Amino acid sequence: MLNPTNERREWLKILGRELPGERIQLWPDIDDPASIEFAVFWIHDPTDLRRYPRLRAILSVSAGVEQFLRDDYPDVPIVRMCDAAMADEMAAYSIHWVVHFHRRMDRYLELQEVGKWRPIRNVDAHKFPVGVLGFGVMGRRVGEGLARLGYPVRAWTRSGGSDRGVTHFQGPRGLEKLLACSDAVINTLPLTPDTQGLMNRRRFAHFRPGALYIAVGRGGTTVEADLLDALDDGSVGAAVLDVTIEEPLPAASPLWEHPRVRITPHASAFTRARTAAPMVAANIRRIRRGEQPFPLYDPQRHY
Ligand code: GLV
Repeated sequence: MLNPTNERREWLKILGRELPGERIQLWPDIDDPASIEFAVFWIHDPTDLRRYPRLRAILSVSAGVEQFLRDDYPDVPIVRMCDAAMADEMAAYSIHWVVHFHRRMDRYLELQEVGKWRPIRNVDAHKFPVGVLGFGVMGRRVGEGLARLGYPVRAWTRSGGSDRGVTHFQGPRGLEKLLACSDAVINTLPLTPDTQGLMNRRRFAHFRPGALYIAVGRGGTTVEADLLDALDDGSVGAAVLDVTIEEPLPAASPLWEHPRVRITPHASAFTRARTAAPMVAANIRRIRRGEQPFPLYDPQRHY
């Protein structure tokens, strides 16, 4: 059963090509629910999944997995989407905004308005450390891209790590330390019970005054009211939000009009059928061969 959010025809075409022996039914046109063994979707009503008695696995087309934080899904493995091409899109987006602020692009736009030619000697990238929250496939690509451009990269994860050229931090104290030594902080975290509201007043208080905050993971990891206060008291210099608690961001949200907030509509990275569908197909083949698909969603870790 296939119910991707976008590029439905493309998904059908690629899965058809990659899985020649399989019958693929595009939801809601399921004429034979009893034949369904795999469900491919981002968001789908769990009660509908009860119609498929032979369901063997759910294959998510989204990087985030907070939709599975409920207990009414059938008891089958859930396979996450981990697409390096999607991570590259997120890296390009994040790097764009780091460079935008570090290199004072806003100021150049103002200067052009008044016809002024005035180079600004910003600090060298080596003196503009960037903290990346979450260092899975997404965060790692973001960090690696920045490191290649000379930015010192600090990563925060639940279990730490070791990567050449990256300083790793873990745990609540580690997060505070990372925030205190970063000129930009990029939040790529998924939404789980552990990350819900993580970036709150207490965390913003540890920011380097004037530092940039970029949120590309999930809006629920940021307490927006606390972020607004931190922007207003100067502890955070500017914020770029691609994700918000409620999406679309409500028209009445003060974030829309804040002079130091940039909003984009959950567009930092898209799932593309071209790269994601072959990964889903590879996992279906693995399951058919009796192998483990990956990466598997772990309900204990909520990720
Ligand atoms: C997008 O936000 C995704 O989870 O794929």
